[in-house]
Amino acid sequence: MKQSNVQRLAILSALAAMFALPLCARADDAAATFKAKCAGCHGADGTGSAMGKKLGAHDFTSADVQKMSDAELSDIITNGKGKMPAYKSLTPDQVKGLVAYIRTLKK
Ligand code: HEC
Repeated sequence: MKQSNVQRLAILSALAAMFALPLCARADDAAATFKAKCAGCHGADGTGSAMGKKLGAHDFTSADVQKMSDAELSDIITNGKGKMPAYKSLTPDQVKGLVAYIRTLKK
């Protein structure tokens, strides 16, 4: 009897991990994608690297960027704008994650 309780607990923990992990992975994914693909111009903190600022990137922590709608941000990420390259290979979920990540940079 004791044994089966332990087994049941193990199965429950495994199930919990299976459901919880993808949720954590998503937030980590966005942060990792941002670091890999975006930080070169926008800076790890979103305020913009020297190169990004020269190209015309705006400070993600500023009201100017934060007042843009999710749809506008997604559109710029997917289709590019000015010197901002288009990222058509990102899935809609990845773009959503990046927009959510940009929202966390708000001052
Ligand atoms: C080669 C440099 C470069 C890279 C890499 C880059 N961007 Fe940009 N990004 C820009 C520039 C320049 C602008 C300003 C475009 C304009 O308004 O003309 C911009 C604009 C934006 C904007 C609109 C707010 C603003 O600053 O005007 C968002 C949102 C954005 N980028 C997100 C991203 C994300 C997310 C990534 C990574 C997937 C990324 N960018 C990668 C250069 C870059």
